[in-house]
Amino acid sequence: MSAPVTVRVPAKVNVQLAVGAARPDGFHDLANVFLAVGLYDEVTAAPADTLRITAEGHDVDRIPLDRTNLAARAAELLAARHGIAPHVHLHIAKDIPVAGGMAGGSADAAGALLACDALWSTGASRGELLDICAELGSDVPFSLVGGAALGRGRGELLTPLPVGGAFHWVFAVADGGLSTPAVYREFDRLTQGREVPAPEADPALLAALAAGDATGLAAALGNDLQAAALSLRPELAATLDAGTAAGALAALVSGSGPTTAFLVPDAAAAERVAKELLASGTCRRTRVAASPAPGATLR
Ligand code: C5P
Repeated sequence: MSAPVTVRVPAKVNVQLAVGAARPDGFHDLANVFLAVGLYDEVTAAPADTLRITAEGHDVDRIPLDRTNLAARAAELLAARHGIAPHVHLHIAKDIPVAGGMAGGSADAAGALLACDALWSTGASRGELLDICAELGSDVPFSLVGGAALGRGRGELLTPLPVGGAFHWVFAVADGGLSTPAVYREFDRLTQGREVPAPEADPALLAALAAGDATGLAAALGNDLQAAALSLRPELAATLDAGTAAGALAALVSGSGPTTAFLVPDAAAAERVAKELLASGTCRRTRVAASPAPGATLR
């Protein structure tokens, strides 16, 4: 019997999330600048006689442990392509905030895929793994790849981006999650009757990333879903203000939220801002992390 396999997968923050108009298929065209951050989930695949999922960590009671979990779907898609039964015990050790806009579910799917590929010796090529990731969800390919990348299409068409140095972040975890489809629907409602420009990556932002220039990146950070997330969760404005008052270079909602992200000058500032954010009473927990981080990796 094969030995269990563990894969570590990073969270992401979107340093730019430019959202275009809704497409006929309901998705939105994006210019999505992904940056992997050093907060990780670990997915372990072990031999089993059925498909089973268990999880540990904060808020795992909010994760489905049945076949609707994206990690289970990853195992099923890989098994179906290779004509084998999707029998595996997937254990997810969660450190990425649940339903927080940091691609935790996508990370678990990418991790499960890589772990099952190793456990079952399916020998899938990188291209095949990326195809399965894109089928699973718009953010899943980036969870596999990590680093930094520009995502076009619905976010799944990736071009790697150079990153010239470490960036330091504080993340404020809010109460409860936000549904990504609900945030996109709110974006559609807020932009109704308005011309939504085609999404483009900001050259100044890409230059700041490539140079490792935190001040430049802070000036260029942008999230077109932020207004929609704030409309659904007005109290997040107080969290953003508290982080800025505590000395963050910039503050924004992470992806579709409700986690908020604060870019800070260095690791010492991250600890300070995290402490002040928690003391402000405007969030439930804080996490500090640096970027970039590698993609899904076998332990
Ligand atoms: O691709 P994924 O399953 O993660 O997307 C979840 C939901 O987010 C979609 O059903 C859609 O409502 C919304 N979405 C979107 N445009 C994108 C990505 C996601 O409208 N580019």
